[in-house]
Amino acid sequence: MSSTNEETAKLIIDGKEYALPIRIGTEGNRAIDVSKLYAMTGHITLDDGFANTGPTMSMICYVDGENGVLRYRGYRVEELAERCDFTETAYLLIYGELPTGDQLEEFRTNIRVHTLLHEGMKRIFAGFPPQAHPMAILSAVVGALAIYDKDSADPVDPVQSELAIYRMLAKMPTITAFCYKQSIGQPFIYPQNKLTYCQNFLHMMFAVPSEQYRMPVDFVNALNVLLILHAEHGQNCSTSAVQMVGSSNVNLFSSISAGICALWGALHGGANEACIKMLEDIAADGRDLGKYVDRAKDPDDPFRLMGFGHRVYKNYDPRATIVKEICHRLVDKYAADDPLFELAQELEEVALSDPYFVERKLYPNVDFYSGIIYRIMGIPNNMFTALFALGRLPGWVAHWREMHLAPGKRIHRPRQLYTGHSEREFVPLIKR
Ligand code: SDX
Repeated sequence: MSSTNEETAKLIIDGKEYALPIRIGTEGNRAIDVSKLYAMTGHITLDDGFANTGPTMSMICYVDGENGVLRYRGYRVEELAERCDFTETAYLLIYGELPTGDQLEEFRTNIRVHTLLHEGMKRIFAGFPPQAHPMAILSAVVGALAIYDKDSADPVDPVQSELAIYRMLAKMPTITAFCYKQSIGQPFIYPQNKLTYCQNFLHMMFAVPSEQYRMPVDFVNALNVLLILHAEHGQNCSTSAVQMVGSSNVNLFSSISAGICALWGALHGGANEACIKMLEDIAADGRDLGKYVDRAKDPDDPFRLMGFGHRVYKNYDPRATIVKEICHRLVDKYAADDPLFELAQELEEVALSDPYFVERKLYPNVDFYSGIIYRIMGIPNNMFTALFALGRLPGWVAHWREMHLAPGKRIHRPRQLYTGHSEREFVPLIKR
């Protein structure tokens, strides 16, 4: 990983001066390297929510939150969304370069041959009640790959690690689609390896054994773009979880399972499902936008506008711009009578003209409009975050691989500042 420590930051504690290296990133972004702080000063840093802390240097993704810029390995996400296929983008994120034709075909073949699950895994799905949330099933079944594919469990063995990556990329669409089929009581549809990654997923989601499935090209293309837009975003909560868990040298599947669990939260990937629920509630409540905007602004009301705001973007999320454009096209063609897109645009307009949101630089994020597209494609609300996980998988894998390939890789083990009781005498139960 490239970095130069041409400058230092001076820290003075009790009159003594310490010099901490300043690392300078590719785009001039700067970091104070505190990796020797405790050894030098006996002090640790405190940083609620890691808003000011980077656990690593990375060459995978660049996000400029002030200007709404997102690049994967140096390529603008807008260009990749327009000109790339999802498996091509996955290759770029994981291996660092856009693949040649031969490299891409080899990558796709390595994935294709692993799309089936061990037949014994089907029993796991059957063990869940019908109303089980797909994200709970997804994390459990992905975790179970550590059992069925244990010959690719060693993350420091390059051969096993590469095999685990192919298996994970290959089986995620199958497992995700099986989660959906399980929830609606339909038979599992096996992957068809002659189909592309996106075609195969939609086929497994919506085909039934008794009918010929006609796959709308618009939906295949929309899914391809959505998966690319969701593919990577630096040290977000779920990617950070994948690295934290993976740093213990557990297998890739268990690390990805941890990422799925983190993504499920409504503050993170779960926001796409929560956003549609919010829009449905507003529509059912007389479309009283002002009431919900006021609630979102009320510090005593836990209600937040789902799909709004971002830790890093203090400008319009560039992904939301593209998702909104796809919404316009698909709503006009397939769901002109769907009130939610128009409601979402009205809500955006009301919020973005309100000083509360303007002052806090709260804009729609990638989750604000994505659910509207999934609805048009016939995907139920409770599957939206699973689609996010399907998209984010290459980013999780890329960071997991980058971490294991980094020289001097260590287990992630943060410190804490203890503020509890000092030592005290034990009190026997009889005296309490
Ligand atoms: C994703 O990190 C990533 O990169 C994530 C992601 C990715 O690709 O991996 O981009 C995907 O997770 C997008 C975010 C999806 N989540 C949501 O849409 C949920 C709603 N958003 C918020 O909960 C919030 O904006 C977060 C969680 C996204 C960010 O939270 P922060 O950075 O901790 O910000 P904060 O809660 O400290 O908010 C700062 C202020 C607060 O007001 P004050 O205390 O200053 O008065 O802004 C307010 C917050 O109350 N605020 C909101 C709000 N988001 C922030 N107020 C109303 N509605 C909101 N949505």
